[in-house]
Amino acid sequence: MSSTSSMVSWRPTITCVPRSVLVLPSALLCLTLALAACDGGVHGTPGGAGLRDPYFPKAGNGGYDVSHYALDIGYDPATRRLTGTAVITARAGQDLSAFDLDLRGLHVDSVTVEGKEARWNRAGQELTVRPHDDLDKGETFATTVRYSGRPETITDPDGSKEGWLRTADGALGLGEPVGAMAWFPGNHHPSDKASYDITVTVPKGLQAVSNGELKSETTKNGRTAFVWHTAEPMASYVATVAVGHYTVTRSTLSDGLPVYTAVDPTQVQASRAVLAKLPEIIEWEAYNFGPYPFSSTGAIVDRPADAGYALETQTRPVFPGAPDTETLVHELAHQWYGDSVTPRTWRDMWLNEGFATYAEWLWAEDHGGPSAQQTFDKTYATPKDDATLWGFPPAKPPSAAYISEPPVYDRGAMVLQKIRQKVGDDTFYDIIQGWAATHRHGNADTAEFTAYVEKKAPGKDFSLIWKDWLYGDGKPPRP
Ligand code: TRP
Ligand code: ZN
Repeated sequence: MSSTSSMVSWRPTITCVPRSVLVLPSALLCLTLALAACDGGVHGTPGGAGLRDPYFPKAGNGGYDVSHYALDIGYDPATRRLTGTAVITARAGQDLSAFDLDLRGLHVDSVTVEGKEARWNRAGQELTVRPHDDLDKGETFATTVRYSGRPETITDPDGSKEGWLRTADGALGLGEPVGAMAWFPGNHHPSDKASYDITVTVPKGLQAVSNGELKSETTKNGRTAFVWHTAEPMASYVATVAVGHYTVTRSTLSDGLPVYTAVDPTQVQASRAVLAKLPEIIEWEAYNFGPYPFSSTGAIVDRPADAGYALETQTRPVFPGAPDTETLVHELAHQWYGDSVTPRTWRDMWLNEGFATYAEWLWAEDHGGPSAQQTFDKTYATPKDDATLWGFPPAKPPSAAYISEPPVYDRGAMVLQKIRQKVGDDTFYDIIQGWAATHRHGNADTAEFTAYVEKKAPGKDFSLIWKDWLYGDGKPPRP
């Protein structure tokens, strides 16, 4: 059954028209009368269907801000069916007659707003909800969406796979940049962060791992429910669920931070040595970047064929196969730069990848490898006609297909090394720690970053660094 055949489904029609339009000749009198109902309790307008992200314009929605997601998900790898209930608590940013959620595929069974059945309609990734009563600006409201079906795998503009991935023995939810809409409805844009409670129920014998802390694990009638809690704000692209067989290890860091690692049994041996370094890496990063931003840490290791890349899912990054040390350093560095300080739009991606790449450079420098300057020099030696590196500047990828390409990563890291050259080590570490502290659990963009650097180093001129290294086309001249 198609979702639009549901009793409560609804297609958007004309709602309220601005009054000025209603000063009209008699031919439109009927319309005017038909709209008279708008003078009643109906006063809102629809929220936007997207946030006009420069790379993913449909991602996210206007008119409200989510504070909490309570997701209750059942999944059975044998049938690949997911049954979900999402309770989304949000605050209206305007008087709202309707608002959108992003949801791709799946079947919507019902939608309620503040406990009352709502009308809804689907078009592409937009699930448009029209509450029974308009919402007032500033009002906090709960939307409950019941949904089910086989979640989709999404192919990104760059050809990589995200959304819901089937794994050898279960499934994996990966959301960068727009995959979260494959497994739950929401405001799927990095600018709207929220806390989460994620309950995943799977057939007994399997495990379900997600972000944050495991609050309970209960088996009943042949199914086990895993209850996960994330108190700190999280962007939906770093939310995850992993279902399968895992070898779980729990420990704590010396300061008491809980560590939860879940490793596919075939990867345990290959992962052991590198995961043993996780505490040391977190402590080294906390020393360099400032206090760890979340209430727990860990990792999820699936098999190499289960995903095409590692992802910095919050508190618990995902790796396809045993990671090497550099990759673990990279994904853990994202906990500060990406997960805690989250890009305001997908254009600000280099603030994630440039920092996480620079963390690898710094790790090497501090652990007997080349200095960051040596890595910079080696990278800079790339011939100027090599478009893989010099094809576009880090802060201006040419399209959505390029947001995870080397210019974002390596040239992003080069920008940080240029800043370090200009200000010296003391100020440089002040800058990277201060940046993480200032925007902790928030969002930030490139203009805020350059302004922050300038504020921290008064009297220094960064204009050429921004012009040539951040925004400039081609290989920058050696100064
Ligand atoms: N963020 C991932 C990393 O740190 C890479 C990645 C996976 C990615 N999917 C993406 C980057 C989509 C941008 C867009 O390695
Ligand atoms: Zn990264």
